[in-house]
Amino acid sequence: MSVGKSLPHDAGTLHVSGTARYIDDIPSPANTLHLAFGMSDCAAGTITSMNLDAVRAADGVVLVFIADDLPFANDVSPSAHDEPLLATGTIHYLGQPLFMVVATSHFAARKAARLGKIDVDEITPILTIDEALTADSRFEDGPRIWSKGDVDAALKDAPRRLSGTIEMGGQEHFYLEGQAALALPQEGGDMIVHSSTQHPTEIQHKVAEALGVPMHAVRCEVRRMGGGFGGKESQGNALAVGCAVAARATGQPCKMRYDRDDDMMITGKRHDFRISYDIGFDDDGRLTGVDFMQLTRCGWALDLSIPVADRAMLHADNAYLLPTARITSHRLKTNTQSATAYRGFGGPQGVLGIERVMDHIAADLGLDPVAVRQANYYAPIDGTPTTTGVSDQVKPNTTPYGMEITDFILHEMTERLLSDAKYTDRKAAVAAFNAANPVLKRGLGISPVKFGISFTLTHLNQAGALVHVYQDGSIHLNHGGTEMGQGLFQKIAQVAASRFGVDVSVIKITATDTAKVPNTSATAASSGTDLNGMAVQIACDKIRDRIAACVSEHHGGDVQFENGQVIAGDVSMTFAEAAMLAYTNRVSLSATGFYKTPDLSWDRIKGQGRPFYYFAQGIALTEVVIDTLTGENRVLRADVIHDAGASLNPALDVGQVEGGYVQGAGWLTTEELIWDGKGRLRTHAPSTYKIPATSDRPDVFNVSLWDAPNPAQTVYRSKAVGEPPFMLGISALMALSDAVAACGDAYPALDAPATPERILAAVDRVRT
Ligand code: MTE
Ligand code: MOS
Repeated sequence: MSVGKSLPHDAGTLHVSGTARYIDDIPSPANTLHLAFGMSDCAAGTITSMNLDAVRAADGVVLVFIADDLPFANDVSPSAHDEPLLATGTIHYLGQPLFMVVATSHFAARKAARLGKIDVDEITPILTIDEALTADSRFEDGPRIWSKGDVDAALKDAPRRLSGTIEMGGQEHFYLEGQAALALPQEGGDMIVHSSTQHPTEIQHKVAEALGVPMHAVRCEVRRMGGGFGGKESQGNALAVGCAVAARATGQPCKMRYDRDDDMMITGKRHDFRISYDIGFDDDGRLTGVDFMQLTRCGWALDLSIPVADRAMLHADNAYLLPTARITSHRLKTNTQSATAYRGFGGPQGVLGIERVMDHIAADLGLDPVAVRQANYYAPIDGTPTTTGVSDQVKPNTTPYGMEITDFILHEMTERLLSDAKYTDRKAAVAAFNAANPVLKRGLGISPVKFGISFTLTHLNQAGALVHVYQDGSIHLNHGGTEMGQGLFQKIAQVAASRFGVDVSVIKITATDTAKVPNTSATAASSGTDLNGMAVQIACDKIRDRIAACVSEHHGGDVQFENGQVIAGDVSMTFAEAAMLAYTNRVSLSATGFYKTPDLSWDRIKGQGRPFYYFAQGIALTEVVIDTLTGENRVLRADVIHDAGASLNPALDVGQVEGGYVQGAGWLTTEELIWDGKGRLRTHAPSTYKIPATSDRPDVFNVSLWDAPNPAQTVYRSKAVGEPPFMLGISALMALSDAVAACGDAYPALDAPATPERILAAVDRVRT
């Protein structure tokens, strides 16, 4: 059976040989036109005049669009229709698309787009959290507040109290392939759109609205993305809609791709957060109450900010039982790029809040940070407290949103990690190193993750598949998920191969296509395999059962599918022979599959219910060294154990864990977004924005999978693995904080990203 095998990514050879096709590689007709946006040069105000004469007169320019030229909907928002493709008079941020140039080449379009003369009646932009709070600039009427128990009483009666604040920056997705789209006009006004998107159905939907046609007139196809990381859930809409509108107007194919600077200036990033906490705890470090205040900058438009902020609230507990809690969330509206989905979708920010709390308690009590975490963990699977578990008074094992935790394996995972990584010895070695070295300081940090799997918007938890078996026994596989490098297509091909008992080479993986599987959800929330894998399994089983019935009719007995053979009693034939038999007997060899996640119920206003089908868990221990004179630092070693359930493909899952960890550590260390006082993003290229390089990978990097079946009924009992390991990078920040703490007595209160500057400032703080 191919499920469970570490087979290579289906496009691995194509990737490394440079022959995998991305949007810009699709051969396009000779008369293809190219698009570029003219962008706003200030962050807020009203347009008083737009003189585009020079743009129109520029070499190669065919057509120029402003908002008034758009024939139908001027909207690329994934949610609230508050995001015009082209500005309608109000300027919301620096970088906002104001007009659209259609030209004979990519270069001509970009060059001409610089020639617009825009007069703006500027106003002072709202850029920061504090400015937004002062101006009461926000989405939704007021803050969202969820609570459990009487937190005020718990805080008042607590043996010990602490409060603090952590700032955490945003993050650029830095997908290697920038945003791109290609629209090909068809007869009768139909449109085919190739888009680098995680959400083909949304592209179809927005293009249909912009062309004033039903969704059936638009087909969106996606073979693969060169990375998405959440940045292609909604941010590709503008390019696809722009290309489709221009293709309709000119009758010619239209293509658009952002160059890296434009991509960073125009598109949304991870939400930055400020999280303040007021906590009560006992002398063993057990929390009695937590009052969190989460402030986030959503940027100028709603996009996905509500569910992102909700998910941050939903992960304010991470792995810990909070006896009483209040979580208050302010979704602030600012004149900056509209912050969007990014791996973890708010979860990492919520988790970092409580991980900081754990660290702060440990420092305050002089306890081991691991012991404080263990003392606060949810009770294990069967709900019985362990020695390191929870006391009676804080049962039952429920989250702040009232969901009972029935699968909690972090106690065992933590014990395994501590022993595999030789925690006690290494802690002593780090202390000895720090005692001997006045300049270099080492630090250790640990962080667990418990990440909820399912879209919190319950109806999104559905998926479809379309499978054909041809008369030669080859299999055509299609489903609603998209491939962005994560290995979804390979894993699902392994599922399909296993259902038919054939080798995975028999399966043809095909591009995602809204004409094959309709009404799909974004490939997001890590649920690509859970949802689409199950839909494919259901479709395959329908065909397999039909073939089995036909074979049984001819040869009698029970029918087995294994090793490429179909066996009925003592008759054995190849899968191809069985397919041919079914075909000649007029049996349908094509089926759709449909799946919806069971047992979900969630009221996001009350903050109560079961938003998740299950939780994926993991834990990491990181060791770092800092230079206390320069703030420079390195990750020396990371040990990770991650729970991917019964892994469908351990090699791909380990890849997700490694990539997630490194991307998470990058968020909290080197990746810094800086806007100047005018709202201009100053870090809009790799020269100023530092993502982890291969050399930033931990020198020693031990990653293993926990490999126990998911108690929830997922496809082959696997667990989603795309986002959860991102949060394990938090251990790197905790380790840096530990290294800083070795310089003095005060708590470092290190903000993120912990750049050399912030580390130096923290070293100064703990010394004084
Ligand atoms: N891995 C790679 N290589 N490239 C990506 O863009 N995106 C991440 C994660 N892993 C991503 C990735 C994000 S944000 C999500 S939600 C999941 O993959 C989506 O895919 P899945 O649902 O199939 O795990
Ligand atoms: Mo992932 S942020 O859910 O695309």
